[in-house]
Amino acid sequence: MAIELRQISKRYPNGAVGALDVDLTTEPGEFVALFGPSGSGKTSLLQMAGLLLHPDSGEVWIDGDRVDDLSESGTAAIRRSKLGFVFQSASLLNLLSAAENVDVSLRLLGVGGRKAKVNAALEAVAMVDRAHHRPDELSGGEQQRVSIARALVHEPGYLLADEPTGELDTATGASILGLLQSVARAGTTVLMASHDPAAINYVDRALFVTDGTLHAPTRDELTLWLTEGAAINTTGS
Ligand SMILES: Nc1ncnc2c1ncn2[C@@H]1O[C@H](COP(=O)(O)OP(=O)(O)O)[C@@H](O)[C@H]1O
Ligand SMILES: [Mg+2]
Repeated sequence: MAIELRQISKRYPNGAVGALDVDLTTEPGEFVALFGPSGSGKTSLLQMAGLLLHPDSGEVWIDGDRVDDLSESGTAAIRRSKLGFVFQSASLLNLLSAAENVDVSLRLLGVGGRKAKVNAALEAVAMVDRAHHRPDELSGGEQQRVSIARALVHEPGYLLADEPTGELDTATGASILGLLQSVARAGTTVLMASHDPAAINYVDRALFVTDGTLHAPTRDELTLWLTEGAAINTTGS
């Protein structure tokens, strides 16, 4: 069971390169990081893996099925059943409690047994005791935990996370990275784009993106990333 990108390329109408001949296959339960400078193509790759952006050429396969050539409703069905998304900003609904935020997607799906599922998802992110708090009563890290619970509540096989620690301080970011690692250990493959050099200590595989191409890091790149990565890649989403 895997997400496979096969020779994926994407160029935006303004000429910017989103991806160039990218091949990537995830392993089950693997925590994979896409590192690289701002504008290198990390978000484009995640969005193509998540069927939110269509490649110009190449193929996307999920669990043995080709999915890049499906209809709009076909891709939506795959997203709803197999994929969960986490972004830099938790983007919770302020009028709803943590539990209600997690429940929203299940309500839209018309799924039964919602209460138990919401509770299990909040338990997975250690937020059961905050279930009835509203987002403005939670810290940034707690809000991100709730957004991860929201992404996991329908039990997707894959969690796609785009800069999930980008708005958090170092210690809180580390706790979110530890959480994502435990999500992967529990069997959900995690594919994460990140600017955070600390993430290298949590992931099973680190890949680098430069100008739309994906590669295993060279020794020099790794050293530079760990020593100066935070300084040279301070922004971006
Ligand atoms: N919707 C878009 N329209 C035009 N250019 C885009 C769009 N999204 C991204 N780009 C460009 O594509 C390149 C890759 O961007 P992106 O995938 O967001 O990289 P990253 O996530 O690594 O910062 C950049 O040059 C960026 O400016
Ligand atoms: Mg990005």
